[in-house]
Amino acid sequence: MSEPGLEPAVAVDLEEIEVEALLDAVHRYYGFDFRQYARPSLRRRLWRRATLEKVTTISGLLERLLHDRACMERLLLDLSINVTAMFRDPTFFLAFRRTVVPLLRTYPFIRIWNAGCSTGEETHSLAIILAEEGLLERTRIYATDINESVLLRARDGVFPLDQMRTYTENYLAAGGTRSFSEYYVTGYEGARFDRSLTEGVVFSRHNLVSDSSFNEFHAIICRNVMIYFDTALQDRVHDLFYDSLVRFGILCLGQKESITFTSHAADYKAIDAHDRIFRKVR
Ligand SMILES: C[S@@+](CC[C@H](N)C(=O)[O-])C[C@H]1O[C@@H](n2cnc3c(N)ncnc32)[C@H](O)[C@@H]1O
Repeated sequence: MSEPGLEPAVAVDLEEIEVEALLDAVHRYYGFDFRQYARPSLRRRLWRRATLEKVTTISGLLERLLHDRACMERLLLDLSINVTAMFRDPTFFLAFRRTVVPLLRTYPFIRIWNAGCSTGEETHSLAIILAEEGLLERTRIYATDINESVLLRARDGVFPLDQMRTYTENYLAAGGTRSFSEYYVTGYEGARFDRSLTEGVVFSRHNLVSDSSFNEFHAIICRNVMIYFDTALQDRVHDLFYDSLVRFGILCLGQKESITFTSHAADYKAIDAHDRIFRKVR
């Protein structure tokens, strides 16, 4: 007869227990809720942080996080992936210009929510299109993100000089007809974009996981954000967007995102399926 041992009673995923403990603790102690972020990429990022902090287990990382705020700051940056670009996926911006702008033109005053705006390249791209189409003056853009440090950079409107060549190509592919360099001046800190582009923009912190709706919008642009969320959280955000859009409002998602499998699939009609532009129809 074998001795009763301390082997797990049932097959369990020990790492998942540690990940859940870490996410619960981060939520309770720091108030950041990453519990519904898609697991595979979350786990990869936690391990990357663990390795950089020179700890060998997720529990070790948890201990470090609770006793070292700076470590939490570093993890925050790891988890809020801020990759962005001006006129990213230019065909989307071309489609926005051709199909969304004529719809927006019908409103006397336009409210747009750019959720998950990161460092502001997307917001500036939208502002450029609206300016060229003569709509910027009657538009208020609410550009929000969970991460305060990216918002500071977005407000600054200074982007890396070495990106200007790519951004110029993107701008032209997005239907731009001017000289892109008209929009910025170059300085030692980078390319500083014209302040008039963001005069009507409100940059503020908003967490899609826990914050509620704050206005009614004619268009919501939320691209490459929900890709990091699990299905339940995506549904929550879609509820929020549905409640925040006017009737016949426009929802723009990223190239790898869709509403097809969400609880609101039947509430929208695709007006450009390739570029993920949807219109609220009921
Ligand atoms: C990959 S960037 C996308 C930026 C831009 N929309 C684009 O497509 O280029 C994702 C952004 O979503 C933000 N984000 C992540 N979780 C969020 C949340 N719960 N609420 C609001 N923003 C969030 C991140 O901070 C990051 O800036």
